[in-house]
Amino acid sequence: MDLHARYGPWALIAGASEGTGAAFARQLAAQGFNLILVARRLAPLNELAETILTEHGVTCLTASIDLSSNDAADRLLELAEDREIGLLILNAGADANGAPFLDGALANWDALVMRNVMTVMRACHHFAAPMRARGRGGVILCGSGACYGGLPGIAAYAGSKAFDLVFGEALWAELQPHGVDVLNLVMGRTDTPAHRELLARQGKTLPDGCASPEDVAALGLARLPHGPICNWGLADEDAGYAGSSAAQRRNRIRQISAAIAGQEAE
Ligand SMILES: NC(=O)c1ccc[n+]([C@@H]2O[C@H](COP(=O)([O-])OP(=O)(O)OC[C@H]3O[C@@H](n4cnc5c(N)ncnc54)[C@H](OP(=O)(O)O)[C@@H]3O)[C@@H](O)[C@H]2O)c1
Repeated sequence: MDLHARYGPWALIAGASEGTGAAFARQLAAQGFNLILVARRLAPLNELAETILTEHGVTCLTASIDLSSNDAADRLLELAEDREIGLLILNAGADANGAPFLDGALANWDALVMRNVMTVMRACHHFAAPMRARGRGGVILCGSGACYGGLPGIAAYAGSKAFDLVFGEALWAELQPHGVDVLNLVMGRTDTPAHRELLARQGKTLPDGCASPEDVAALGLARLPHGPICNWGLADEDAGYAGSSAAQRRNRIRQISAAIAGQEAE
């Protein structure tokens, strides 16, 4: 698939300085996308932008924005100015707290929910509206298997990822008829610096079998036209630990949407 023809010319990646975000950036630059790269730390973003410029010659803008701040989505929009953002990738989203709910400071959970829920929702409103008007575009929400149910130690994180899953499914159903693809890339354990740091703080090391960021990003780009969900390591019809497979969830949305449309037509 010619990604640039379908989703170009600009991609905005929120959470781009390392791990899967940086992998998306490298792979998209190789396909000719101009990039807007956002994270909190500017130094690694600029380093990545320089490498990308040298290797691929595309335009690469960087900005430090805390996606947990109340004005983050507005700042993303201001940053983009009138550039045609055909692809929005909301990657930042891990839980750096690693604590049971009552043992973590409420301010930390607020920040996590602000970044994973409010900023995700607002950024989709800002950037998917022009995509719908143009009749083309793509949105990738970087999700987690935590979206399928609560587990001890990840209460707020799992809840936020469940929001992203269901929100993304609805967006997919609403935007697909307008040529805009939406994918919740449900990741499993992935070898990212943030994940390594969290494990190190807990006195643990990365287990065997973690996905590589490059493989995860490649899967996300390949599956974007086939939303609303892609589960890392699972075929479309496999549910794994989820209640239902990606294919079953897609069919459920289609069946209910068709039934409602049928009732309304009566
Ligand atoms: N790694 C895994 O095992 C795993 C498993 C399942 C799902 N996931 C999902 O995969 C995505 C990426 O995870 P990750 O492990 O790479 O960790 P992450 O903490 O989400 O970091 C990824 C990027 O986001 C940026 N970032 C984080 N918080 C930010 C904030 N408040 N404002 C702006 N930028 C922010 C980081 O740079 P700065 O620190 O410079 O801001 C970094 O560039 C997340 O959505 C996560 O939920 C990861």
